[in-house]
Parts: sequence; C-alpha cells; structure tokens
Amino acid sequence: MQLSFAAPGSVSTGAWVVGAAEGPVLTAAAQKADAASGGAISRGLKVSRFTGKAGQALEILAPAGVKASRIVLVGLGKPSAFDAGAAENMAADMIGRLSKAGESSVTFEIDVPKGAKLKPGALAAHLAMGARLKSYTFNHYRTKDLADHEFKLKSVAIATSDAAAARKAWPALDAVAQGMFLARDLVNEPPNVLSPAEFAARARQLSKLGVKVEVLGEAQMKKLGMGALLGVGQGSERESQLVVMQWNGARAKSAAPVAFVGKGVCFDSGGLSLKPGAGMIGMKGDMGGAAAVTGAMHALAVRKARVNAVGIIGLVENMPDGKAQRPDDVVKSMSGQTIEVLNTDAEGRLVLADALTYAQQKFKPKFVIDLATLTGAIMVALGSENAGLFSNDDKLARRIHDAGQAVGEPVWRLPLGPGYDKMIRSKIADMKNITGSTFAGSIAAAQFLQRFVEKDQAWAHLDIAGMAWQDGEQKALVPSWGVGWGVRLLDRVVADHYEG
Ligand code: BES
Ligand code: MN
Ligand code: ZN
Repeated sequence: MQLSFAAPGSVSTGAWVVGAAEGPVLTAAAQKADAASGGAISRGLKVSRFTGKAGQALEILAPAGVKASRIVLVGLGKPSAFDAGAAENMAADMIGRLSKAGESSVTFEIDVPKGAKLKPGALAAHLAMGARLKSYTFNHYRTKDLADHEFKLKSVAIATSDAAAARKAWPALDAVAQGMFLARDLVNEPPNVLSPAEFAARARQLSKLGVKVEVLGEAQMKKLGMGALLGVGQGSERESQLVVMQWNGARAKSAAPVAFVGKGVCFDSGGLSLKPGAGMIGMKGDMGGAAAVTGAMHALAVRKARVNAVGIIGLVENMPDGKAQRPDDVVKSMSGQTIEVLNTDAEGRLVLADALTYAQQKFKPKFVIDLATLTGAIMVALGSENAGLFSNDDKLARRIHDAGQAVGEPVWRLPLGPGYDKMIRSKIADMKNITGSTFAGSIAAAQFLQRFVEKDQAWAHLDIAGMAWQDGEQKALVPSWGVGWGVRLLDRVVADHYEG
C-alpha cells in the first residue's frame, strides 16, 4: 500500500473522504466536496441519521460533478476528543470499509475540526499511521482464496495543508509500524515454524539495522548458571536460546542503557502440568513479550533513536517429555536463589528470573521493563482493555502509564507488597513458583519476579496475557490475531524521557 502526503487538489480517482464534527459541522473540505457534487452531501444529510459522531459515515456513490468514485463524509466526533488516537482509529476503520468495498485508492482530506488540539501535519501523519496499521496481513500459509484475504487498497493519499510537517513526522511513526508488524508476524507464526532457534534467527536480522545481536545457547546458559530458564526448556527437542540485542544510539556512548526483557515461550503446553486441550490453543503466542521487545528494538534502530537500549529475550519451548522438568523439582537460578517448581505451567516467571538477572548483572541499566504473557489471572482482572503494570518505582510507573495512554496501549497498575510475597514461601527452597491459592495470581507472579530485581534497580513488569493476541477483530488498528502490543508503548517511553 502506497502512502503519500500532498497539498489538497482535485481528487481524480477512488474514494474522497472528508470530515464533519458532531452536529454535524462540516469541515471546509466537506463543504468543498458538497459544492463540487452539486449539494450531494447536503441532500444526503437530510435523508440520513448522520450526526458526525465518531464511527459514523455517509457515503455517496458515483456522485455527479466529481471524478471520485465516492465521497465519504466521516464523523470526527467531538473536536475536543479528536486526538492522534481518534484520527488513527477513524482512518483504520475507513480504510477497512473501503478496502472491503473494493476501492483501490483513497484520498483523505480531513481538516482539523475547530476546537481540536491536533496540528494539521500531525493529523495527516496519524491518519497515515491508522491506514498503515490496518493494512497488515498475514497470509504466508494460504495457498488458495488469497483474494478473499488480501488487503485490496493500493494507495492512500493524505491531502493536508502542511505536507512538509506530515512528511517530517512520518518516519518515526513508520519505524514503529515496522516494529509492530515484526511483532505481529512473530506472534502469528505457528509454533512448528517459530522454534526458539528460528525466533533467534529472526532477531539476528536486526543486525542489518545496526543492532548488535548475540545469541546464547544452552551450553553458554549452563555456564552462567541459568538453571531456572533451562529447566523450562528441558522437555523440548528444541534448544533454548537467550537473545541479547543492543542498540547504541545515545550521544554519550557509555551511557547506561534502558533494558527490555521479554518472555519468549514459543509454545506453552504447560509441560508435565499439562494444560487441557482447549487451554493450549493460542499458546504459540506465549512469546508475545519477546515479540514486543524485538519489535521495539527494531523500531528504535530504524528511527535511529538517541538512546542506548538493550533487549533480552528468553526463548524456550515448554513441553512434557521423559526429560521434562517435574513438579517438585528444585532449580537454581543465575541469581543463586533456589526455586521449588510446583507447577511446570508457571514457567514464564522461571524464564524471566534468569533473563532479569542477566540484564542487570551485564548492563547495569537505568531501568528494566519486562513484558510477559504471564498469567491467565490478569485477564480475569483486566480483560483485554489494559495490561497489568507492576513496579517498584513510582516515576517509572507513571511514565509507562502516560506513554500507554498517549499511544493507545493503556496499562493499569496493581500493587506489590510483603503480604503477597509470603504467598511464594517454599517448604524446602528459597521460593516456590506457585502460591497454592487461586487468589491474587498475577500479583504473586509479579512478586516472584521482584525477587530477582536487585537493590535500587528501577523495574516494571507488564503482564500482557490479555493484550498480545485477540480473537476476532476487536481493535480498529489491529487486523490480525497477533496484536504487536507493547512496541509503541516502549518506543514512546524512550521517546518521551530517555533520548537526547
Ligand atoms: N502462558 C500462561 C498464561 C496465559 C494464560 C497467557 C492464558 C494467556 C492466556 C502461563 O504460562 C500460565 O500457564 N500461567 C498459569 C499460572 C498458574 C499455573 C499459576 C495460569 O495463568 O494459569
Ligand atoms: Mn504456562
Ligand atoms: Zn506461559
């Protein structure tokens, strides 16, 4: 799909999309389209219920007097609420409809409605972003009926009074979209294809962008004492991997990096604590945290972010086998702490424990943010509207919260505390990996991770079990099962606070 920005001119082909705020209050472009079509919009308004609310559209097919195949008057809603996210959602929704309707080109001519805070260039760039995110497809495994699944729109033009500003704002958004597409691809890939080694091979590709990529295999991890991570992968035919990605873009070369850590369970069968059949479906997506970290590193490198950042992902497959880890096993983590594994399905925390230790010991980072599809319980609490946020640092937590709001990836903070920590005391080891109760499961998991966070280390944990994939198309900007959640959020945290 071709994207372009240009000054408004006459639309010579395809759909012409113009806007009206709630009322409806027609924008200047909408009035222009109305005049050009001999009042078709005015007549249409009289016979429709269109009021300009967000989500509404009035379509005029084959209007007389203009070359466009259709004019679409789209609702922009209340101007005060018309922000970057609203513009993206509107463009995505519109693009989806028009692609299904068989249009091959679309021109958006959306003026900033009076009272909205967006600048014209930013509005144009975010319309493009909405269109781009919606154009994603994952058709690698289809051999027939491709036409039913392809994205049909070929070109999207954004007519704007400030094309220069739009072109300037676009590359950073484009970089994020690329990172999100990478994350979506990784989450969508089936687990027979995306083994830990294959995931690592894809992460290696980031070296083309100037990212330094190192891959540690089982022998190296064993030397480092990563018994917690290795125990999880022990029942798999496929080798576990730890991938370390470094982007060094800061002006001060030796500046401490920010660190992102991702859970990369390429398939979670539960291990010997086997999941029931239905609960296993979708567990190819249990590497969504690792996908987000990889996608974020990709985005930072593409846009040459002025930051030192390190992404560390623990890649394993959790399988039952004669060699698999048993419930009752005790493993020793890289931190030296021992863990009684009472449920092999609580494996994500075991992988993260060693990845967190490695991140801190090796890099002394400014902060560590880990992302993980860690607990079903977080979906009981928050559904798919918010990721769960846990942190030992109020400032970092606020920054993550605000970045999430800004990019449409909201998070909700939950508590940590010594009372919860008691839940993971073990009879024979330093801790156990489950509580033995059904209460506060997501907090107990976060509490477990916190035991691997060193003194004075700023840390945040995002439980993204409800966010990494979606059934059906719930999100306007997300046309696939894999969401690519977290890439935008991490990029925004960096852009707002850690560059310069
Ligand atoms: N990967 C799952 C969490 C999950 C469940 C993600 C459903 C997305 C959808 C994780 O490894 C897991 O199995 N967690 C257990 C923990 C329990 C054994 C303490 C869970 O949530 O049931
Ligand atoms: Mn599990
Ligand atoms: Zn898991």
